[in-house]
Amino acid sequence: SARRSGESFHSAGFGPRLARPPPVTSTRRCMQALPGFRDFLPEPLPHRDAWSADVRRHIFNAWRDTARRYGFREYDGPPLEPLELFTLKSGEEIVQQLFNFEDKGGRAVALRPEMTPTLARLVAGVERHYRKPIRWFAIPQLFRYEKQQKGRLREHFQFNADIFGEPGPGADAELVALLIDSLRALGLTREDFVIRLSSRRAWQDFFRARCQDSSREYAFYQAVDKLEREKPETTDSLLRDLGSSLADVRAFIEAGQPTGELQAILDNLAARGLADFVKIDYGVIRGLAYYTGAVFEAFDRKGEFRAIAGGGRYDQLVKLVSGGKVDLPGLGFGMGDVVLAELLKARGLLPGVVPGPDVFVLFESPELTADSLRLVQQLREAGRAVEYPLGPLKGDKQFKRALELGARWTARVESDPQGVRQVRLKNLSTRAEQVVGPDAVLQQLAGE
Ligand code: HAM
Repeated sequence: SARRSGESFHSAGFGPRLARPPPVTSTRRCMQALPGFRDFLPEPLPHRDAWSADVRRHIFNAWRDTARRYGFREYDGPPLEPLELFTLKSGEEIVQQLFNFEDKGGRAVALRPEMTPTLARLVAGVERHYRKPIRWFAIPQLFRYEKQQKGRLREHFQFNADIFGEPGPGADAELVALLIDSLRALGLTREDFVIRLSSRRAWQDFFRARCQDSSREYAFYQAVDKLEREKPETTDSLLRDLGSSLADVRAFIEAGQPTGELQAILDNLAARGLADFVKIDYGVIRGLAYYTGAVFEAFDRKGEFRAIAGGGRYDQLVKLVSGGKVDLPGLGFGMGDVVLAELLKARGLLPGVVPGPDVFVLFESPELTADSLRLVQQLREAGRAVEYPLGPLKGDKQFKRALELGARWTARVESDPQGVRQVRLKNLSTRAEQVVGPDAVLQQLAGE
């Protein structure tokens, strides 16, 4: 396999060829993924820390299916974007974490650390073509040069669902409901997670009543955002500098009085029977710079993990990204796969064994090879998952392999004394056998 991967690496022909392949200084170096980047492997996994491609598909399926139930359409954008798209309004923290470089044409570019700026750019360009409100979702892979820690890697997949063109709280409630239902679709319940709902606007009023310098507003939001992680003295002196104090901010959080807008969102969710999944918590403010209205984050109830998801309303972003040409209110959330997979694992909610093939075709005598291959093809064309030994393998080894794979049936082409072909089918759970004509195989399988 070393030869095979070496060949495909140098001869794959994606993009311009390098004049000389990069020197390989040690096998070890080229065999490991970069820190914070994951390999996804099929089950059964080789070790406890490996990431499962089957679990990833299970999560993506739940996301896609919930998005479909809510009428969201799928879009995507490029993973590499002009650097400026993210320095414009994502905010300091994300800009510090960018994977950025100069491309060969001298452009400053960055791997996308989040989807929202790309989406705002995309929507600004094509919104006239679509009926409002626009409801779109995507599952991009995102890249952030962060310190690696539990729940934080340098790449992750993020379910993004966003709405454009709807200013009222009904849209905010719809998104929170979608967030709740996508977690429920994975088996999580109200005992497992909670959505903490807050308002950037409420915090904006709070700030403006205390400080007239609007250039410092974002610094204030960041101080509130870091409240739970930062030393109290540090936060207090920062807040005092901004006309408030730690006690002042804490009192506002503890009072937790919903604004009219947040109350409308709560009422909407209560009507759907989803009230138990949400609580007002002004401790949430969101680190990203572009939010303007309701904001929210999803957390596990026990508080063992980092945020599962976060989002909110950003009514100025499309305008900003389009240089003032398009003015459309927007809102959305992002849910990462890393914390989510950890939480599902901790709650015993990972999917069970991946099903094996429907049929394992046993190949025995060489004169029946062509008939056996015809059977394989016929079953596959009918939509059945079929495996068979690709190389020579003794009969008992073939049967063992079928069992290991968890096949439901084995099928073996046989020849009767007159040379007529028949197929011996064996149901591997009941061990019952039947011999049928080649044309009756599909019917026989469908009957069970
Ligand atoms: P965010 O809070 O930066 O929001 O990320 C959303 C979620 O993505 C987090 O709650 C977390 O689960 C996951 N996540 C973020 N960074 C990492 C990481 N380094 N490793 C693993 N998981 C991570 C946004 O990105 C917004 N653009 C979401 C949004 C969409 N707002 C409106 N629309």
